[in-house]
Amino acid sequence: MINIGVLASGRGSNFQSIIDSIKSGALNARVACLITDNPEAYAIERAKSHNIPHVYVNPADFTGKDMFYRRIADELKVCGVELVALAGFMRVVKKPLIEAFPMRIMNIHPALLPSFKGLHAQRQALEYGVKIAGCTVHFVDEGVDTGPIILQEAVPVLSNDSEDSLSERILTCEHRIYPLAIRLYAEGKLKVIGNTVKIEE
Ligand code: GAR
Repeated sequence: MINIGVLASGRGSNFQSIIDSIKSGALNARVACLITDNPEAYAIERAKSHNIPHVYVNPADFTGKDMFYRRIADELKVCGVELVALAGFMRVVKKPLIEAFPMRIMNIHPALLPSFKGLHAQRQALEYGVKIAGCTVHFVDEGVDTGPIILQEAVPVLSNDSEDSLSERILTCEHRIYPLAIRLYAEGKLKVIGNTVKIEE
């Protein structure tokens, strides 16, 4: 069983999908702690209702981003975390955290990378006019949404889609592929070769 640390800034529905996958027995893992950068994050309520320890780390308490991420890395290590899952964590992760967990930080992004990196990916997809959108789980490196891709799932973009309706369709896929990617990691089936990830049978 692996210890997961989750970082979230808001609603935390992806965090919930990880919790649900563990509860159902599909994912042999334990969420050792939730870390948020937002004291109002609904993810905190989810942690409380499942007895998951949660820590709020206030970026304003630190002189620079490196210190902020060093603190987060320290909190995760204290909890015995082996894999970090970014679940709607709306910040670019910096070196001290990445170096503390090399190729052991995953992120879920609401677009088919390498298209539509950064914020408001679903809006970017609508504005570009693509007909297929989707989501990506990837390992985190020092770029923004550039790390090795683990899993992706596609959805159609419908002609009457709003940002909300497209986001909702993509979210359903997020909740499927994020716990699955974590499970593949936990089972030792992910091999990172350069910028690609091979999934072993
Ligand atoms: C999700 O759609 C996630 O993919 C996205 O934020 C949402 C968080 O929802 N993440 C990013 O855009 C990261 N750049 P949630 O809090 O309900 O999991």
